[in-house]
Amino acid sequence: MDPKDFRQQAHQMVDMLADYFEEVREGEKGSVLNWQPPENAVAKWQEEIDSHEKDPTELFKGILRDAIHVHHPQFAGHQLSPIAPLAATASLLTDFLNNGTGIYEMGAPGSMMEFAVIRKVAQAMGLPDEAEGFLTSGGTLANLTALLAARSFKASSNVWKEGNETELAIMVSEQAHYSIDRAVRIMGWGEGGIIKVPADEKFRMNTELLEQSFAKAKAAGKHVVAVVGSACSTATGSFDDLEAIADFCEQYDLWFHVDGAHGGALCFSKKYQHKLNGIHRAHSVIMDFHKMLLTPVLTTAVIFRDKELSFHTFSQKADYLFNKTAEKEWFNLALRTFECTKPSLAIPVYTLLKTYGEDLFDEFVTLLCDNGQTFAGLIHNHPDFELAYQPECNILCFRFVKKEMDANSLDELNRRIRTAIVEAGDFYIVQTQLNGRQWFRTTLGSPFTNEKHLQSLLEEIKKFGDQL
Ligand SMILES: Cc1ncc(COP(=O)(O)O)c(C=O)c1O
Repeated sequence: MDPKDFRQQAHQMVDMLADYFEEVREGEKGSVLNWQPPENAVAKWQEEIDSHEKDPTELFKGILRDAIHVHHPQFAGHQLSPIAPLAATASLLTDFLNNGTGIYEMGAPGSMMEFAVIRKVAQAMGLPDEAEGFLTSGGTLANLTALLAARSFKASSNVWKEGNETELAIMVSEQAHYSIDRAVRIMGWGEGGIIKVPADEKFRMNTELLEQSFAKAKAAGKHVVAVVGSACSTATGSFDDLEAIADFCEQYDLWFHVDGAHGGALCFSKKYQHKLNGIHRAHSVIMDFHKMLLTPVLTTAVIFRDKELSFHTFSQKADYLFNKTAEKEWFNLALRTFECTKPSLAIPVYTLLKTYGEDLFDEFVTLLCDNGQTFAGLIHNHPDFELAYQPECNILCFRFVKKEMDANSLDELNRRIRTAIVEAGDFYIVQTQLNGRQWFRTTLGSPFTNEKHLQSLLEEIKKFGDQL
């Protein structure tokens, strides 16, 4: 608790991070990750915790050395945005203040900024002026929060008070993120509460099968309360036809929720926002800032098309007293969020928007999606690779092929190449299964990635493919 120490340590930290950033963004020196088996890593940290040192510099250097470098142009793994340096600076402020935002008095700037940030996203998505929401800790929690609101509005009994009586269910593409499945199970609806609509050849919900799936669910005694559109799906980055889902929800008076954790960010890209056509008709939408919008984990927007809907999440429509209290205390966000204490999530996003405007997000998201197209072109033109589908954003799946190999051996080879890549550490990519086969999965998140890096990734994969 000594300001002198803080000044000195924090200055040193900023210098160290600036040097790190300079080096990592070039992508020449060092690698994307310094792979170690988890057993070794845990043993090291367990041992080091007892070797006390007054100066934390070596500790910080060790963390940098062992971390994965998301700014690196050869990072193309899971959906994590590199942070804008200014957002990191703002995070230092929020961490130091340690204000909560559940209760207005506990963190006035952070909690009130949420309204301004949500308004920007709602406008970019074309939601009505009455739309309102808040920030929460990640897409998983955000999906649960929105689906709890759907339950509150569409269930015929008062589940909040009486528990589940009817067999409630939602409908969603088989390609949806697992957090939807998890939310349904947390709500106590079991496996039968999630009705998976088959996907088409582009891994989008086959909306022509909605009617059939709905009729089957009803015949089995299910009360379907909502349909969830994925914008986009996690594995392939495919965008469901949101207009078709909205029409269906209107026809049967169902809640329409859009999981835009990843692709919701395209609302800021003039070039790619058409992928979200129909999102403005949703009752609820979620969008992660930390996947494509340069902000720290976790920063997720939950938006309701009408602010009134947001007051019912943790109550039931008949619960007059609670709703009235919540509406009167609109400024105490904990009445509407899962969290009680919540960090000042809005401050880094607000700082970026105030400093650079939405143009920053437009340029950045457009660049990442353009990179997806460039990479798809390289893969398509390479005789040793197969593209799983034409990508719609910055997520794409592909694999190494050898004509003489059977399908199972090819799967095994692609799996082994991926392990070799991670262990070598010069690139980071992940993997997925599509239609029972093995594919590499990449999310192009770094603004420093260019065609040369993507070409080298293919060469590296081919090198391992030929060796293994
Ligand atoms: C479509 C989709 N929804 C939800 C999530 C979960 O978001 P979070 O990791 O922020 O909890 C993800 C994460 O990958 C996702 O891709």
